[in-house]
Amino acid sequence: MKPLLIAGNWKSNKTTAEALLWLQDFKNHIIPIPSYITVVLCVPFTLLYTVKETIKRDSLPLVLGAQNVSAFPEGAQTGEESARMVRDLADWVIIGHSERRKNFNETDEILRQKVEQAHRAGLKIIYCVPDDKTPIPAHVDVVAYEPVFAIGTGTTDTPKHANDIIGSIKAYSQVSTVLYGGSVTAENVALFVSQRAIDGVLPGGASLDPEKFANLISAAAKSNV
Ligand code: PGA
Repeated sequence: MKPLLIAGNWKSNKTTAEALLWLQDFKNHIIPIPSYITVVLCVPFTLLYTVKETIKRDSLPLVLGAQNVSAFPEGAQTGEESARMVRDLADWVIIGHSERRKNFNETDEILRQKVEQAHRAGLKIIYCVPDDKTPIPAHVDVVAYEPVFAIGTGTTDTPKHANDIIGSIKAYSQVSTVLYGGSVTAENVALFVSQRAIDGVLPGGASLDPEKFANLISAAAKSNV
């Protein structure tokens, strides 16, 4: 069985009360997860503490991640969360999501600085790229290939094309774990994780509903080669 990483991305969704309900419901739906599958849940900063405490209290099979980090070290940067502060609560962080590249003008250079900060603080990094041409900074742990046309649209890349692009990303970067993201669901996850080069998935919409997310994890476990 190849190791699989499933990273749910809640994006800018959920109040504290909604997050607590999700966690309770997830506990009711999740089946025992095989040891070769790691499930990371990437939540907004405002939920990190609550989700962390609930995962610990209820022994949920989830590892906690954030979705962003400051490019600056701790200090006079109003409204920013430094990598050291994020590391206090989370083990993982998503950097370079296409929504941040597009809506927040995050350039390759800014993203390189974010990776540097996250790495120094000891965060594990999932670095998103839209293709196999985008630069990947040193110290990235996992890459997620997320073609823009597939994000939130219900239209995925084809598993074969995703596998080819991911093979190419592995060849030009030093990164050996590469995920596919973009409209992944419980219904289609098997098509992706059964591809040789694909090491897991990064679902957004399908992670917002606890039953759908638990089903997605079960489907991935059943289809792993
Ligand atoms: P989606 O989002 O699964 O809703 O397409 C994926 C992502 O943007 O990470």
